Amino acid sequence: MKRVLVVFGTRPEAIKMCPLVKELKGRPDEFETVVCVTGQHRSMLDQVLEAFSVEPDRDLDIMRAQQDLFDITSDVLLGFREVMTEVEPDVVLVHGDTTTSFAAALAAFYLHVRIGHVEAGLRTYNLQSPWPEEFNRQVVDTISDYLFAPTETARRNLIAEGKDSAKISVTGNTGIDALRTTVRDGYRHEIIDWAAGSRLILITAHRRENLGEPMRAMFRAIRRVMEEHPDTKAVYPIHMNPQVREAAHAELDGFERLRLIEPMGVLDFHNLMARSHLILTDSGGIQEEAPSLGVPVLVMRDTTERPEGVEAGTLKLVGTAEEDIYREFAHLLDDDDAYQAMAHASNPYGDGHASERIVACLVD
Ligand code: UD1
Ligand code: UDP
Repeated sequence: MKRVLVVFGTRPEAIKMCPLVKELKGRPDEFETVVCVTGQHRSMLDQVLEAFSVEPDRDLDIMRAQQDLFDITSDVLLGFREVMTEVEPDVVLVHGDTTTSFAAALAAFYLHVRIGHVEAGLRTYNLQSPWPEEFNRQVVDTISDYLFAPTETARRNLIAEGKDSAKISVTGNTGIDALRTTVRDGYRHEIIDWAAGSRLILITAHRRENLGEPMRAMFRAIRRVMEEHPDTKAVYPIHMNPQVREAAHAELDGFERLRLIEPMGVLDFHNLMARSHLILTDSGGIQEEAPSLGVPVLVMRDTTERPEGVEAGTLKLVGTAEEDIYREFAHLLDDDDAYQAMAHASNPYGDGHASERIVACLVD
């Protein structure tokens, strides 16, 4: 029997780790599974735990309103040391590139506990973009014993860096496992009814490197295009970060075809994505989900660690400058050939069975 300690703290980690928790808990003869959340996010994390009916065994509950990277790193490092000392796991599983993942993996490394990194090998090789995530994931890969790469490209990155191939398994992305359970035919939502007859645009934005003026410029571009296209309606579930909310309200308030709403539960959000005409985002997870739904995405970032979706044709990197976003967004609304070329479903991130493969590696 192996004791596995799964740790996560933010919305996207929770969405991608809950399927794995379920898979582990479904095999009680082989694994004792302990779930620790750091609470780096609070309400946005709790929304996901509730949607997937996962109850954490430990909760560090670290979130503060104006937390910075020092707060998160030190609170997780010290809190997770205590949890690990108590639980004495055989392996700790962390996900992706958040500061929760970095600090929890560092704590495991300091205590000589084996680490499994889910979503290993994603890279931009630009430490400033996304910041600080590119640093976090490189460090976690350096100290991990199991590298669960979602794609062949991620595996190649790890091999090129000299990582031991015996540690690497290509599993697919557990986010697609989650999506398999959330999107349903005939899903009803008040926003879907509100947008009926219009092209529905879905917006999200939260990256730290875009906070302030770059984010306001993104919003100005979106508003200008929407004003020129009366057959569009947009919904933007705003991230809880007060700096994001301030920028969004400053640029987007008072425009009735664009609704600013609270973060959506993952079931509603995935089903809304599936019914959107187009998504504008700087999110990581959405870049993985949209290709399998066949919904075009304009990625409002200068770099992406998810080139597979760009190669598949569903994602387009448009940068963060106002004029670039304005031009590309308007183009996709005006040119149906360009739109149709992006609007096809492909599945570069796996078949929805990544969790099973990860668990099989842990059994071996
Ligand atoms: C974090 C991750 C980022 C990930 C993102 C997903 C780091 C450094 N960043 O960024 O990689 O893409 O989560 O969303 O790990 N807040 C709330 N309630 C919540 C969540 C957030 O009020 O449920 C507010 C708090 O004021 C908090 C702020 O949002 O201080 C920022 O949250 P934080 O986790 O520090 O950074 P994110 O930008 O969310
Ligand atoms: N998401 C959600 N509700 C929302 C916005 C996003 O459930 O209102 C989901 C989305 O489907 C994806 C994940 O949250 O699975 C992405 O989270 P986020 O953009 O915060 O983080 P990132 O992926 O950029 O790290």
